[in-house]
Amino acid sequence: MEQYVIKGGNPLVGEVEIGGAKNAALPIIAASLMTNDTVHIDNIPDVRDTDVLLKSIQTMGVFVERTGRHSLTINASQIQHLVVEDDNIKKIRASYYLIGALLAKYKRVEVALPGGCNIGSRAIDLHIKGFRALGAEVTIEHGLIKTKAERLLGSHIYMDSVSVGATINVMMAAAMAEGTTIIENAAKEPHVVDLANFLNSMGAGIKGAGTDVIRIKGVPKLHGTDYTIIPDQIEAGTYMFAAAITKGDVTVKNVIPKHLESISAKLLEIGCEVEESDDAVRVVSSKPLQHTHVKTLPYPGFPTDMQPQIAVALALSQGTSIVTETIFDNRFKYVDELTRMGASIKVEGNTAIISGVNKYTGASITVPDLRAGAALILAALAADGYSTVEEIQYVARGYEDFHLKLQSLGAQIEVVDSERALQKFKLKTG
Ligand code: EPZ
Repeated sequence: MEQYVIKGGNPLVGEVEIGGAKNAALPIIAASLMTNDTVHIDNIPDVRDTDVLLKSIQTMGVFVERTGRHSLTINASQIQHLVVEDDNIKKIRASYYLIGALLAKYKRVEVALPGGCNIGSRAIDLHIKGFRALGAEVTIEHGLIKTKAERLLGSHIYMDSVSVGATINVMMAAAMAEGTTIIENAAKEPHVVDLANFLNSMGAGIKGAGTDVIRIKGVPKLHGTDYTIIPDQIEAGTYMFAAAITKGDVTVKNVIPKHLESISAKLLEIGCEVEESDDAVRVVSSKPLQHTHVKTLPYPGFPTDMQPQIAVALALSQGTSIVTETIFDNRFKYVDELTRMGASIKVEGNTAIISGVNKYTGASITVPDLRAGAALILAALAADGYSTVEEIQYVARGYEDFHLKLQSLGAQIEVVDSERALQKFKLKTG
């Protein structure tokens, strides 16, 4: 099995290009099936989750051509199957975006229940509530979510809690419903806005994305488009925290600094310097890190997808910090692994109480999920000595070329698949 081997201790220094946003690319790929015209998409990240979704839509008869590593041509005029249950689709959460997209276009679809990172119970009741409000019949049978509708009719939908997935899914279905839909208490994440912009570029009538009330005037048909996906807020944030954790100096390039404000604010609070320019942010960590408190919240709050990364920084800070996770109920699974590297963290319910330590020490660790994996790797890069990291496939779900980008910043990290390769790395770096 492939694993990472890491020799910690090098401050990460340099510039890193940020790719397209995974969590925008996934719904945008699904939404590209809503027209029979050809769609061109640029800045698609080459990560496992997008790859899995693309393979899955190909099994349905969708034409997909990679015109470059980050660009795609998609044509969905020849869809043959409206039952999507191949092995690929069960692996990712975003499979449910095929429901909103295909229900909109064909008024029926059956999709396997979603998988994805195990970060707590991940209900889909709000998605179902939204589809039903638009007039669809929804049942769950034999592991499939089955939806059908004679007609989809615009409706007024209040989301009981803020959900990125449900907002996106209902927005897609409503884009081709008859009449106007209003989604209240909508998610405001940059990828919600990106999907709305994508749909509007195909002729949809969506207003208000990025606020908590989205108004969608349904249209009977969407047309082809040429679209570039926004930069990945979480990939950028991860490298910004890499600078903080390793006492480095990293510039993330090709970003939208506005999307990174909650992350920059916390970095400033813990004693880093943050310099913003038009499309780049530089983070310098030259002083001892200070403790702080943080609570994850829907955008524009501090993202849950950055919670493990900030915890890894706070566990190296002076004093006691409190991290409260309000979005998912099981997102502290990395704490046991971090403890093995010397961290002092006590988890009580959705709160982690962190007493800062001076340093981490290398250990053999196992990745529990995507973002926790990235955070543990950053801890290993700051640790004294060697670490090995198993289950690295989780990290490939959402980070393109993670170890190569880290290497370019001076990290000593390699993928190894045998004891011999591991020893060779130790000889080379010893
Ligand atoms: C999206 O997940 C992202 N995934 C997650 O990215 C991200 O952590 C999350 O949004 C929050 O920002 C994708 O975009 C593919 P939610 P999603 O619906 O849509 C509850 C990553 O690392 N809820 O906003 O599943 C739910 O249980 C990840 O890239 C309901 O109760 O998140 C959770 O507590 C992992 N009923 C909260 O809402 C529902 O019907 C937020 O979930 C839907 C959600």
